[in-house]
Amino acid sequence: MTMSVRTASEARPLGRVFRLPGVYRPQEDTALLSGVLAADARIGCGMRCADLGTGSGALAMALARTGATVVAADISMRALASAWMNTVLRALPIGLLRGGLEETVEAGPYDVVVANPPYVPSPTPTVRSTRAWDAGPDGRAMLDPLCAAAPSLLTRTGALYLVQSTMSDVDRTRFALAAGGLRSEVLARAEIPFGPVVSGRLDYLIERGFLAPGDRTEELVVLRATR
Ligand SMILES: C[S@@+](CC[C@H](N)C(=O)[O-])C[C@H]1O[C@@H](n2cnc3c(N)ncnc32)[C@H](O)[C@@H]1O
Repeated sequence: MTMSVRTASEARPLGRVFRLPGVYRPQEDTALLSGVLAADARIGCGMRCADLGTGSGALAMALARTGATVVAADISMRALASAWMNTVLRALPIGLLRGGLEETVEAGPYDVVVANPPYVPSPTPTVRSTRAWDAGPDGRAMLDPLCAAAPSLLTRTGALYLVQSTMSDVDRTRFALAAGGLRSEVLARAEIPFGPVVSGRLDYLIERGFLAPGDRTEELVVLRATR
């Protein structure tokens, strides 16, 4: 059942964060998920949390502000260095983990896992400079493995919070989570104008049916999944 529906204008302002070149700038998806985390009274002190694909550490910091213990994981050293700088500047105790899903599972399980994974369908193979957003031909290169691994990431009462675009098929995410015994609910939605990545590949996205001609916005969705 939908707990609440937000609009982009309600998303949490993130403030300035330090980023090395190439590290994902916190954007509408980050803000939408961050707002959900800040408003969710179920997240707090004493919990063990993970932020998978932490980038600048924005979501890890949102979790740490609740008093939770946080592991921030990323495949990118530049991202981890940026996250480290941001957490040190704010005196937030966050552990850093170099790696992806496998390493995060190994260091688990967690009471809360958050993820703003790459989810933009891409006509070209993912390379280092685009791996923050490019997610294969259907946008699901990280979403599918994440859904499959979700039961192993979570404690018995744990919850996964993730944000994605409707372009990369929210129903498919929910089916994949259900296949692992997790039920999911939509916590937030936001309609946002296309950014430069989507605008730069409109022809591909329309041709493959991810968007309709004339679309000017995409919808972001935050899901929460539990056993
Ligand atoms: C959309 S960005 C989100 C960054 C940050 N969490 C935020 O919300 O602003 C996705 C992040 O996932 C990281 N990433 C991409 N593929 C990954 C993988 N296989 N394992 C771990 N991190 C990955 C990227 O380096 C990038 O920092």
